[in-house]
Amino acid sequence: MQWKQQALERFSNQHDAHKWAAIYAADNLNVEAINFRKRRDVTVQYVLEHMPAGADILDLGCGAGPVLVELCNHPYNLIGIDYSGDMLRLARKQLGSAQNKIPLLQGECEAIPLSDASIDCVLCLGVISYAESIENALQNIFNVLRPGGTAIVTYRNSLNDIFMDPVALIKQAFEMLFRNGDHANRTIGRSIPRSEFLQNIRKTQFKVAGEHQIGFGTLRLNRRVISDGRMAIRLNGFLHKLLSFFPNAIYRAMADVHIIILKK
Ligand SMILES: C[S@@+](CC[C@H](N)C(=O)[O-])C[C@H]1O[C@@H](n2cnc3c(N)ncnc32)[C@H](O)[C@@H]1O
Repeated sequence: MQWKQQALERFSNQHDAHKWAAIYAADNLNVEAINFRKRRDVTVQYVLEHMPAGADILDLGCGAGPVLVELCNHPYNLIGIDYSGDMLRLARKQLGSAQNKIPLLQGECEAIPLSDASIDCVLCLGVISYAESIENALQNIFNVLRPGGTAIVTYRNSLNDIFMDPVALIKQAFEMLFRNGDHANRTIGRSIPRSEFLQNIRKTQFKVAGEHQIGFGTLRLNRRVISDGRMAIRLNGFLHKLLSFFPNAIYRAMADVHIIILKK
């Protein structure tokens, strides 16, 4: 199946669309929901602290609109774009009457349907893993930003996949030995090594202006989740405290969600 068709199916009502609306409900206590709410909150806080009133802000891959819902009562010109019509319908529902003042467009991150240099801030949370080419998506984000504009881009860190899964860690070590280090994994929705993300940034003219890392995700064995509830939440809290005693690079290498702030 074509890459884009896979993305549409993944974020349709028949598959994950409703999950991406429900994950932001405050009573959803699985560890991923908690970490995604933190991702939303860090992003919203950054926008509120750094973007002046009247700024043009694009939520690219807006999903069910969790960020737009938080920002819609602030004095910004918001636009939401998503590739999935079902996700956009959910965003309209979540926004209620606020949808009247927020254009919600169907479009994709590798061909953003806006003029170059028309936006002050692009938010792109958990979307680039679904782009066929990360480089293309980042270049499109760069192009729609005004000079001096900001992008907040997040992805899930592939090292975390093996950090929280001892069986996957051993398998990965064997694969690297026998596949001569060639372990490129280009599947839709994949987690990404930080080095790959930064390599793509270097192909654009973006400057990295800051970064945050959030959480350590579910506890897994051979890629099967064995805890996403209380035990995983406790383990995330414990690792957060433990790794804060070590150099920041270790926390960054192991953390699940990476938030990167970019400047044009
Ligand atoms: C993991 S969800 C994240 C949604 C939202 N940003 C959030 O933080 O909850 C990824 C979103 O990206 C959208 N998407 C997938 N491929 C896309 C593409 N090529 N261009 C734009 N949006 C895309 C999906 O429809 C989905 O709504």
